[in-house]
Amino acid sequence: MKNDRILKALRREAVDCTPVWFMRQAGRYLPEYRALREKAGSFLKLSRTPELACEITLQPLRRFDLDAAILFADILTLADAMQLEFDIVEGQGPVLAKPLRSEKDISALPALELSKIDYIFETIKMIHSALKDRVPLIGFAGSPWTLAAYLVEGRGSKEFYFLRRMQYQNADLLHQLLSYLSQATASYVSEQIKAGVQVIMLFDTWSGLLDLAHYHLFSLAYIEKIAKKIKKDFPDVPIILYSKNGAMGLEARAALGVDALGLDWTVDIGLAREKVGQRVALQGNLDPAVLYASADILRREIKNNLLCFGNYPGHIFNLGHGMPADIPLENVSVVIEAVHRYKHF
Ligand code: CP3
Repeated sequence: MKNDRILKALRREAVDCTPVWFMRQAGRYLPEYRALREKAGSFLKLSRTPELACEITLQPLRRFDLDAAILFADILTLADAMQLEFDIVEGQGPVLAKPLRSEKDISALPALELSKIDYIFETIKMIHSALKDRVPLIGFAGSPWTLAAYLVEGRGSKEFYFLRRMQYQNADLLHQLLSYLSQATASYVSEQIKAGVQVIMLFDTWSGLLDLAHYHLFSLAYIEKIAKKIKKDFPDVPIILYSKNGAMGLEARAALGVDALGLDWTVDIGLAREKVGQRVALQGNLDPAVLYASADILRREIKNNLLCFGNYPGHIFNLGHGMPADIPLENVSVVIEAVHRYKHF
């Protein structure tokens, strides 16, 4: 690997400078993404066509000095292997044809058929050979809870009341679904690793819907199962767990067996580091809205974030959530240059 800063940071080893990549670094803020998406006609066409998904993954790396690539796909991709019909609607996100709401819906789920998403593993092989080990390739999946949020609700929502109704009306049924999804996710990311991804990231975006006790029961318990299985089969592949729930259960997250925790921007990264010590690396956590600011303010906020983390190994710089679609493009280079220039572990 020519640039292994991220792999080193994930092992909490010293690096020449803090590595940086962005959640949603391939996407609508890039004119070349918008052009290709228009030509292809839809997000799903892009993500299901290996040549196009590979091209989209590489687009941000041609423009920017990023320290990682991330597979272009979606957390709903796994639904293709469960024979669930869905669409990704512009500006809205995933929409399921038939949400999973009843015992009948969930009991009728077919066995996972990973061959239905061969296009993903084909895409990974193409990216892997195109990258020529320039930077690591991150593969990913949704956490069982976050995936269940879309599968039960049927679409994005502020409150996800269908999901949370099931949480209290029929917890056993929700556990049945989460159990299915944790096994499916472990198999899915294992195949990604076999195809060539070097890091796994799990997105627990909707964990902030849960109180602490239910967070353990409905989210962390299943993430732990996935982490254990991956670590047993692939002990050298690092796992990053992103959660959008502030500082909730930080110590518990650090004890799951993952290598790094991705933080949203509401967490003080210095306090988080004090809490988790050297057990895990931390990824994050600039407020994505800072990307709308002037270069001066941007540099000030980046410096604050790096200082706040402190002079310790194990920081991967990122945003606290995905890249907004309409930021000034030049600000992306400002971030990368500032993070790389600021001497650090
Ligand atoms: O980070 C990357 O560059 C890799 C690609 C990636 C996408 N989705 C592409 C995408 C990744 C890692 C995801 C993960 C994902 N998808 C999550 C977890 C991370 C997060 O952002 O919280 C979630 C919750 C989803 C579900 C989803 N897919 C939503 C909510 C949306 C709408 C987002 C929006 O801004 O409109 C999508 C669609 C989607 N996934 C787009 C992209 C580039 C936009 C599609 C388009 O309109 O072209």
